Amino acid sequence: MTRRSSHRPRPLKLGVLVSGRGSNLGAILDEIRRGRLRAEVAVVISDKPDAPALQLARTRGCATLVLDPKSYPTREQFDGAVAGALKQHGVELVVLAGYLRIITPALIEPFRHRIMNIHPALLPSFPGLKAQWQAVEAGVKLAGCTVHFVTEEVDRGPIVIQAAIPVRPGEREASLARRVLRQEHRIVPRAIELYAQGRVRVTGRTVTIRGLRAPKDTALINPPLMG
Ligand code: GAR
Repeated sequence: MTRRSSHRPRPLKLGVLVSGRGSNLGAILDEIRRGRLRAEVAVVISDKPDAPALQLARTRGCATLVLDPKSYPTREQFDGAVAGALKQHGVELVVLAGYLRIITPALIEPFRHRIMNIHPALLPSFPGLKAQWQAVEAGVKLAGCTVHFVTEEVDRGPIVIQAAIPVRPGEREASLARRVLRQEHRIVPRAIELYAQGRVRVTGRTVTIRGLRAPKDTALINPPLMG
């Protein structure tokens, strides 16, 4: 799938799905406000009526919608309703920003390669819940976060962008989660921006980005070679 034009006539319409705090939603809205992300949040949908992210969305002038999974007989019917609401709002790209549900083909198929998820680990390591805790338990020296397209395989879809940071000696889950989150706030808007510019192509498991300079060959080594 390719999006060819890098000169969009109008901002990319986003649908953001949330379940909790909403700091990644805040980061997206900040980048839009600063003029660094040519997008607009067409709707914020939550599966939790009391998610703080909803309040944030309302304060920032976004349309919001709460859909309660308990009101639907099956997961597929719930996801069908979410897909319908996204279409109604003209959403072009869906962002799962702390949306803590596994989604079904009823949502994935109509938005194939148009749903991005942020995960707080360097996938494919540490999929699923409590990713930062898993990283600390595994004793890894480098941790990070990943934005990927959502497919039927949970946390295994094509990777768009990752950020890596060194784990500090003796670091616990809470501290690592805080530092990883700062990187999430950088890479989520960047992934959306690349998509909005029509530079993202998915081939099998691989995402290629058109017109990128080759990254410098700078290794993140932890513990450092000196000291
Ligand atoms: C983020 O750390 C995000 O990576 C994680 O939930 C948090 C939501 O924070 N998502 C997952 O673990 C998905 N598997 P936020 O509500 O402040 O954006």
